[in-house]
Amino acid sequence: MLGDEPLVERVDIVPRWVQAQQEWNDRARRSANAVPTASYGRLNFNSWFDACEFTLATEGEWTDRGRVHECFRSEHALEGDVHTLERESFMDALGQHLAKKFAQQPGSLRRRKEFYNVTCSRVGSTKLQAGFHTNKKLFRKMNPSSRKSQDPNRSRLVSTRSDDSTSSRYMTEFLQLNCAVGLLESKLFPDAKELTESFAAFNAWRTYLRHDFDSEDPGITLVSVGDGCTPRTAALFAFRTRWHCIAVDPEMGLSRDSKSEYNIARLQHFRAKIEELKIVAKRVLVVCVHAHVSLATTLSRIFSDDGTASCIAIPCCNYYAAIDAEGKVVPEYEDMGVISPHRTVRIWKSLPCGSSSPLCQAADA
Ligand SMILES: C[S@@+](CC[C@H](N)C(=O)[O-])C[C@H]1O[C@@H](n2cnc3c(N)ncnc32)[C@H](O)[C@@H]1O
Repeated sequence: MLGDEPLVERVDIVPRWVQAQQEWNDRARRSANAVPTASYGRLNFNSWFDACEFTLATEGEWTDRGRVHECFRSEHALEGDVHTLERESFMDALGQHLAKKFAQQPGSLRRRKEFYNVTCSRVGSTKLQAGFHTNKKLFRKMNPSSRKSQDPNRSRLVSTRSDDSTSSRYMTEFLQLNCAVGLLESKLFPDAKELTESFAAFNAWRTYLRHDFDSEDPGITLVSVGDGCTPRTAALFAFRTRWHCIAVDPEMGLSRDSKSEYNIARLQHFRAKIEELKIVAKRVLVVCVHAHVSLATTLSRIFSDDGTASCIAIPCCNYYAAIDAEGKVVPEYEDMGVISPHRTVRIWKSLPCGSSSPLCQAADA
């Protein structure tokens, strides 16, 4: 739902991407229908499964469903590479057959990874090596020595540096926001870590760029690059400013909680790499929260009226060097409100972008 007049002049998607998206959609549709594909179309899985006469295997023995599939192919003289969709169709049908067959004995059928606890006349079950634990709780109960003492602070979310004292300021800020309900309903943040990162970007704008980028100015476009599977940082800015906010990420929409549409005014999201878009807008603020793409690449895809964009970045992993602008003076600081060891915040004003960006200049030279 876009409440205001469109201020982003264009977001061009290069044809390469449109085609990739189309192929992805087609694949998703085909696998959702799970229709047996050409080579299997004439064959009836179920009559073959019936003939296999699956029974429950002796406790501790399992059958690899891949071997069942191989047996089916060899009996039907199917040769050549196995197409992913063919395999998926077979596995779906096998799972449904077994679930139906053992429906009268609830809990008896078990599956772990590629294995079912069944056997049949054609493919016999086998004992699996120690270490293949089908029931972790049961295994631990029977092998108490396997339980190592664990660090009470274990968490990928909490840094263990002794000089660390993270603050809960962003969680507190979140709880006091009018848009907190909207953010929660949209299922944008998978956990507190991601929330604090987006809030740190917002805080960087509030602290350093508020005078250059007025929150009430609808002529401003925010581009959140590498926003993740949900447009979380872009949505936060869309809720809290009057800007047009765009989220770009090749993994956009791929998590369980992702939505295809968000009823958030002035928010757009794209499943794309930034290099596959060309964003043309009046004034641009780029945000890179733990983005896995270089700043130079990002800037080369953004075209603003004055040929510059400002940027807020919180680099992570091995992107500290790539998300940097050589020779530019930046405020850089550690934000202890970010629940991640990657909490360095960098801010640049007026970096050359679009055709004036270093990458485009180098390409033109
Ligand atoms: C570490 S994740 C960070 C996700 C999110 N910002 C967060 O903090 O939770 C890095 C993200 O960068 C995205 N990414 C990688 N290459 C990209 C590209 N060329 N353009 C845009 N995003 C990209 C990945 O898909 C991934 O979601």
